[in-house]
Amino acid sequence: MSTFRAPMSYDNGQIQIRMYRLEDAAVATEAISESYEHLRPWMPWARPDQTQEHTEAFLRQAIANHLLGTDFTLSVWDGEEFIGATGFHLRVGPIEWKCAEIGMWIASRHAGKGLGTLALQAMLEWGFGEWGWERLIWKCDSKNLASARTAEKAGMTREATFRSDALGVDGNRRNTHQYALLKTEFLAKFLSQTRQESER
Ligand SMILES: CC(C)(COP(=O)(O)OP(=O)(O)OC[C@H]1O[C@@H](n2cnc3c(N)ncnc32)[C@H](O)[C@@H]1OP(=O)(O)O)[C@@H](O)C(=O)NCCC(=O)NCCS
Repeated sequence: MSTFRAPMSYDNGQIQIRMYRLEDAAVATEAISESYEHLRPWMPWARPDQTQEHTEAFLRQAIANHLLGTDFTLSVWDGEEFIGATGFHLRVGPIEWKCAEIGMWIASRHAGKGLGTLALQAMLEWGFGEWGWERLIWKCDSKNLASARTAEKAGMTREATFRSDALGVDGNRRNTHQYALLKTEFLAKFLSQTRQESER
């Protein structure tokens, strides 16, 4: 069993990210249901008939995974308002490799307002800080322009486009962009920003 103690919550003053709680099932169900058309093209798990029971079963598993250190799905908040979900997923290798994939969805009523970019920037700050990741990646269907742009705006580098490497939600073959940021790059950027601010 992993001895990794996963951080629980992060607040950078602009956005709040934390481990799910069972009592989040109602707001998460509502957000998923009303966002179905927005999520359907990209998220294979999206369903038009999401119930609170489905969400609660998912949350139980997500909380257990978080505590066991096997996967980290997180909720995103703007103050008291649930706006979506994100996560550090161990899809690259074991936790000792310190590499994770960030996933994300923002509820349709909050999408397109800059919150996805803020949430990804917060995940990078928290991820390279308290979590101690060395490399964070972001993958998306090459047709998912909002997702690709969000990664670029948060400062991640497109490393590759894998051709015909997966099936899209529609069952057709898709290409996948892979973006990444290294802790060393993040810290260099952060230090140069701090230096510029102190010189102003
Ligand atoms: C992808 C997603 C997380 C981005 O979050 P968001 O809050 O909508 O993104 P932002 O408002 O921060 O916008 C980021 C950039 O994407 C652009 N963008 C947003 N929606 C877009 C769209 N439908 N087409 C093209 N660009 C789009 C924005 O204009 C912005 O770029 P700009 O500042 O250069 O104009 C969100 O749209 C979402 O949940 N989509 C459905 C699920 C999904 O695709 N998740 C990612 C799977 S890899």
